[in-house]
Amino acid sequence: MGRTHSNAFLQTPRYFDVPYEPVLKAVCARNADRVKSFAANWGYESIETDWRALVARKDIDLIDIASPNDTHAEIAVAAAGAGKMVSCEKPLGRNAAEAEQMVEAVETARVPNTVWYNYRRVPAVVMIKELIDQGKLGRIFHYRAQFLQDWTISQDLPQGGEGLWRLDVGVAGSGVTGDLLAHCIDTAMWLNGSIAELTAMTETFIKERKHTLTGKVEPVGIDDASAVLCRFQNGSLALFEATRYARGHKALYTLEINGEHASARWDLHDLHRLQWFDHRDEGKLRGWRSIHVTDGDHPYMKHWWVPGLQIGYEHTFIHQFADFLSAAAGNQSASPTFRDGLATDYVTDAILKSAKTGRWERVTASATATAVKAVGQQATV
Ligand SMILES: NC(=O)c1ccc[n+]([C@@H]2O[C@H](COP(=O)([O-])OP(=O)(O)OC[C@H]3O[C@@H](n4cnc5c(N)ncnc54)[C@H](O)[C@@H]3O)[C@@H](O)[C@H]2O)c1
Repeated sequence: MGRTHSNAFLQTPRYFDVPYEPVLKAVCARNADRVKSFAANWGYESIETDWRALVARKDIDLIDIASPNDTHAEIAVAAAGAGKMVSCEKPLGRNAAEAEQMVEAVETARVPNTVWYNYRRVPAVVMIKELIDQGKLGRIFHYRAQFLQDWTISQDLPQGGEGLWRLDVGVAGSGVTGDLLAHCIDTAMWLNGSIAELTAMTETFIKERKHTLTGKVEPVGIDDASAVLCRFQNGSLALFEATRYARGHKALYTLEINGEHASARWDLHDLHRLQWFDHRDEGKLRGWRSIHVTDGDHPYMKHWWVPGLQIGYEHTFIHQFADFLSAAAGNQSASPTFRDGLATDYVTDAILKSAKTGRWERVTASATATAVKAVGQQATV
């Protein structure tokens, strides 16, 4: 994600009229040689090998967190405490308790913030949001989403360490629920409102794996697969599924929403297309339309190429950064804010709890939530 974000920092002012010119002052990672070569490749002026030194620097306005999940809370709280703007990768915290501390820190410091749930910035997904907000779907009955991968099926794959921290529950917080399903939940709540209650199953198919850092075979604490049935506050029903055991799928994020008048469907493997069915079309011509979301009047597309030429994954980060800079100029945050990221963590916590208890769980703020005051809660864009 360091590359994805650096690309966004460089490209944003070239394509969007933004109120700030980003200056790549410093990049931080633990290995000095590797971070030097990263800095040279992307044009950072300097390096740090301890994030605390980065946060202490007076010449830096924004701290961007693109490191593993166990680092998010500590860095974000320190950065907000130092008065920096903060952008953070998802999931916001390893759990809601961590995310609550992060929300409190940015809201107390009143610093602009955002969480990189980038799928909210896919033009076809933004179009679904616009169509829902315009009432074109009518009453919503169903929402369903899947995020499927297949890269952890081998039982010889170790857990932990570089590239494999996602399999170590201490670092990741959870498995596919916080990693993949969190994306689905964030988009779903943006499009369809809050989730009221849910029941879930999770499974850890491979129970023990060698740990890269200790060299020992250790129990696996993450969920390999997660299946969720839930009810939104608006009364619609939903199904969510995430797994890293769906052979043949590398990053298949799909979503569909069914309303009284129309349905919309989107697929990350075809991200520039919106599938749309409108029952109000003339009967004999009624059918699913595949809309190529590349015209100048489609969301964000006037900043890119001529109609018909598509964009990709990296552009979603450019869009989010452009929105973030515009908001920050008015000391506002860009959605999803840390508070929105916390809302997703409440849902993923409830999923993991339901998988343990075998019961339906209501999605509520955790016991410590009352400690989070809506101090200086900011308007969002
Ligand atoms: N929005 C998305 O689509 C998306 C996609 C992938 C990952 N992510 C999120 O981005 C984050 C990073 O994931 P990734 O796949 O880029 O991981 P990665 O393992 O490829 O990279 C993590 C980087 O963080 C560095 N790092 C680790 N500990 C550090 C520390 N204490 N101080 C400074 N640097 C440290 C590592 O050296 C490495 O360069 C995670 O939170 C992940 O969930 C989001």
